[in-house]
Amino acid sequence: MTAKTPKDSLTTLTDMVLPGETNPLDNLFGGELLARMDRASSIAAQRHSRRIVVTASVNHVHFAKAVPVGSVVTIQAKVSRVFTSSMEIYLDVWIEDRETGNRTKVNEAIYTFVAVDRTGTPVKIPQVIPETKLEKERYEGALRRKQLSLVLSGRMKPQDATELKALFA
Ligand SMILES: CC(C)(COP(=O)(O)OP(=O)(O)OC[C@H]1O[C@@H](n2cnc3c(N)ncnc32)[C@H](O)[C@@H]1OP(=O)(O)O)[C@@H](O)C(=O)NCCC(=O)NCCS
Repeated sequence: MTAKTPKDSLTTLTDMVLPGETNPLDNLFGGELLARMDRASSIAAQRHSRRIVVTASVNHVHFAKAVPVGSVVTIQAKVSRVFTSSMEIYLDVWIEDRETGNRTKVNEAIYTFVAVDRTGTPVKIPQVIPETKLEKERYEGALRRKQLSLVLSGRMKPQDATELKALFA
């Protein structure tokens, strides 16, 4: 299996915020952004693995800034690390100023996808080799985040989470 780079899975989704997608403050509804991010990360996971992929976990979402109605929202998703059948997808979200085109980062999120066969059984997928400084930082932190996610979902005993223990040693 030939390894790939995060660039191979790069997925960019640009769309507007319409009135039906907002909360009572006329800002984008959180669940709507989660759905858009799920779509973008699903495409990135497919591009990396070339398999059927399912969302296993939403590990982290940080709604740093509100996104007003009418905003143009760009979501960028890339595979940051692969384990065996699972992969971490890192997402960055920006809005752009109508007049200047300057971008403001509004959100960051981390999803875990699993590649499966037609019966839903997890399958092994190619590894990813990070290239840029940021990709390398995200790769390095991914095992810690995976262990945290497994502990929180009851799939790993806290005492087995070596990466988390190392943080507090
Ligand atoms: C995700 C799913 C395929 C895992 O299947 P499983 O039979 O439990 O298989 P495994 O225990 O071998 O887990 C497969 C991989 O997922 C990882 N995984 C499972 N749950 C995870 C979680 N909460 N966080 C991080 N990784 C997780 C495992 O660590 C394993 O990774 P690896 O192969 O890279 O080491 C299965 O639980 C599933 O189909 N869930 C429903 C998915 C779905 O419908 N999503 C859409 C929701 S609307």
